[in-house]
This record gives sequence, C-alpha cells and structure tokens, in this order.
Amino acid sequence: MAQVINRQRGPVSGTATRARKKQPFLLDLYSTSVGKKYVMALTGLMGVGFVLVHMVGNLKMYLGREDYNHYAEFLRELLVPIFPRTVLLWILRGGLIAAVLGHLHAAVTLTRMNRQARPVKYQSARDYQVASFASRSMRWTGTIVLLFIVWHLLDLTAGTANGGNFVRGDAYNNVAHSLNRPVVAAAYILANLALGVHLFHGVWSLFQSLGWSHPRFNKWRRHLAGGLASVIVLGNISFPVLVLCKVVEVHS
Ligand code: HEM
Repeated sequence: MAQVINRQRGPVSGTATRARKKQPFLLDLYSTSVGKKYVMALTGLMGVGFVLVHMVGNLKMYLGREDYNHYAEFLRELLVPIFPRTVLLWILRGGLIAAVLGHLHAAVTLTRMNRQARPVKYQSARDYQVASFASRSMRWTGTIVLLFIVWHLLDLTAGTANGGNFVRGDAYNNVAHSLNRPVVAAAYILANLALGVHLFHGVWSLFQSLGWSHPRFNKWRRHLAGGLASVIVLGNISFPVLVLCKVVEVHS
C-alpha cells in the first residue's frame, strides 16, 4: 500500500504561531526565563544584603539594652532632618517588600514555565533526583522563611505575638522576652537553618543566573555561598541560644 506522506508540516512549536505582543523592553525581558532569573538573582541579592546587615545590627544585643535600643532608634532617625523621622526607613521597607514580592512572583512563574517546557519527566532517575532536590528544597525553605517573616513581624514589629510583653520603643525588651520562650527559640533556630540552606543554594545559583559562572571560579562560588550562609545563620542562632543560656539578660 502506498504510504501517504503529509508534506504540509505545521509549525514546530506553539510559540511560533503566537504573534508576540509589543511591550516595553523590561517587561519583554521579564516574560523570558532569563529575565525571571535576573529578577530572582537581583532581588535575592537585596535579601542577602538585608539579612546580613540585620544580623550584624542585632549583635548590638550583646552590648546591652541601651546600645540595642539606640541602634533601633538610629534606624528610625536615618537622614533626619533631611527626611522626617521614619521616612527613609519606610522607603527602605518599601524596597524590601518590593524585592520579596518580585522574588516570589519570579519563582512561581519560572516554575510554571519550566513545567510547561518539560511536561515529560527526566528519563534518568539520577538526573531527576539531583535537579529536583535543589529546586524542591528551595521551594520548601523559601516557604518556611516567608512564614517566619510574617510571624517575626507579628512578634517584634506589631507585638501581637510577643506573649503580652511587647513594649513599643524597647526592642531589647521585646527580643529578650520573645527568645526566652524555649518553643519560640526553637522555632527561630529551625527557621534560620532553613534560611541557611536557602541562602547557600541561592547565592551559589545567582552567579549562574547572572552569567558569572566558570569552572575556575566554582570553588570560590561554593566558599562564598557557604561562608555567607554560615556567618548569617550562626549569628542569628546565637541570639536565641544566648538568651536561653541567660547570657543576654531579659531584665537588665
Ligand atoms: C534571631 C534572629 C533575629 C532577631 C533577634 C531579629 C530581631 C528583630 C527585631 C528586634 C526587629 C524589630 C526592630 C524594631 O523594633 O525596629 C526585627 C525586624 C525585622 N526582622 Fe528580624 N531578627 C532576626 C532574624 C530575622 C531574619 C532571619 C529575617 C529575614 C529572613 C528578619 C527580618 C526582619 C524584618 C523584615 C523586620 C522588619 C524591619 C522593619 O520593620 O524595619 N529578621 N527583627
């Protein structure tokens, strides 16, 4: 029987049939996976900068109530009198909130894009395990860090989760009372371990996303990612541990 050959081939992929909408360059870039990876890398860098500075600032706890509260007040008085009190702090908070939302949006839409691009699972079980461990752990640790931030703000900024000890303007009192509760201290430690894993993978892969990857630098990338994550996590974990060990006095 003569074989019927269909010579009228359709387009190779669905994307070829869709006319691309004309939009501003940055939105156009963001609609691609490369653009989303840039956004993840840049907003991730903002987050790393914040957690590093936040941890170093919190070390003031070891100098006592006066120094710690002075530092918290200094943040509210940034660039006064050029700006009224707390205005620069609110601008920085706005930047941080935008970075968190951007990071989340890029993560969710990038995952969706990757799923659409690879509806068929990896053929080799080993490749699948390696690829999915990194991405799955980022999803889980990212979710834990996000939930931690919400609760942390209720605990130390709004004061509603501080166990009735919250005193506005006395950050030392609030931290010391909060971390003096063993269950809360344990939650802080676990959340910071999740943050550490997230930071390690994140810092390691942001070089790749920004195109700064070369076999010669990979050892340094690993050291930098491990070093940054360790410094931040050890610093943060020292606070609940030393409050529980009474090194940081609740009633000083
Ligand atoms: C044990 C470790 C930590 C301690 C002792 C701590 C302490 C504090 C305190 C006392 C405040 C309120 C400051 C004020 O009254 O102005 C605060 C705010 C905040 N913390 Fe933490 N923090 C820790 C870890 C973290 C981590 C790991 C993150 C993020 C992943 C984080 C994110 C924030 C944010 C976003 C705010 C709000 C900043 C603002 O309102 O200006 N903190 N933290």
